[in-house]
Amino acid sequence: MEHLEKLVEPIISWYRTHQCAYPWRTDPTPYHIWLSEIMLQQTRIEAALPYYQRFIEELPDIAALAACDEDRLYKLWEGLGYYSRVRNLQKAARILVAENGGELPFTKAELLKLPGIGVYTAGAIASMGFGQPNAAVDGNVLRVLSRVTADARDVLSPALRAEATQALEAVYPTGQAAGDFTQGLMELGEQVCLPSGHIRCEVCPLAALCRANLENRQHEFPVRLAKKEKEIQELTVLLLYCKGDYALCKRDEKGLLSSLWQFPNYPGHLSNSEVAKRYGGRVTALPDARHVFTHKIWQMKGYRVEMTQQLDSFVWASKDEIKGKYALPSAFRPFMPYL
Ligand code: ADE
Repeated sequence: MEHLEKLVEPIISWYRTHQCAYPWRTDPTPYHIWLSEIMLQQTRIEAALPYYQRFIEELPDIAALAACDEDRLYKLWEGLGYYSRVRNLQKAARILVAENGGELPFTKAELLKLPGIGVYTAGAIASMGFGQPNAAVDGNVLRVLSRVTADARDVLSPALRAEATQALEAVYPTGQAAGDFTQGLMELGEQVCLPSGHIRCEVCPLAALCRANLENRQHEFPVRLAKKEKEIQELTVLLLYCKGDYALCKRDEKGLLSSLWQFPNYPGHLSNSEVAKRYGGRVTALPDARHVFTHKIWQMKGYRVEMTQQLDSFVWASKDEIKGKYALPSAFRPFMPYL
């Protein structure tokens, strides 16, 4: 990627006059930045805001995060998905309490050693929290850079992301300007250099030096090669009801949604009579549901089963307990109205 020095000043100036007042910006402690970056990795800013507020109110520092009860932690995360993010957050917090006085380290290299902190997050915390000259290249930043340099390579390739990080770090400022540059690049991608159809080159501070704009080829970038098809998995989900309670069980410790609570479920699509044969009781079919994960899709059939005995192999919980205490992955949300 070509020399990017010319982006630094215009981006920082633009950011200083156009930034949105997000809560992690009004009080930008390294912990706040870390938490917000982890939340924003798979979640839109507007959707993450209430979670962020609630999380820092209840867990105001790294020590509180380290000490939080697991079920409560999942409850604070419920609805955000990708629970490994919050598990790693706590794992890292515990390491920091044990080994670093409950504080984040300030270099990218040290940050990278913590669970759940990759090149992007390490760069974000180092630059925004500690004024270090490190880049944080997300999809928004890649879109900006691919247009500015009219780069025709696949924007999803890890090699391009690594090259962009390196090219940026070769020209990175330090101190306050480091964080402003990082967030300015992100924000430009969020407010101005938007996906095709919504591009706002007329208000872009980089318009005069953006190759795509100068050649009127904005819509050709970023280049994306075809994505792999997602695997489709069929599943039968059961709301087993008995004496005011519903059956819950815990998912395996490994794999998708590990260690989270769930409604009992089986691979494949079971028929009404197959369910009745397994559990007895009165079986009612619920509407089909679907949940899209990063790499797979669950195609779910659901049944409500009225049983006469609470089997010991499950935990039994009332509707209120399920809503207030247990964190169920969003994939099961379509069945909640039938509790
Ligand atoms: N996306 C991820 N982190 C962000 C931040 N700090 N500001 C704006 N958008 C972001």
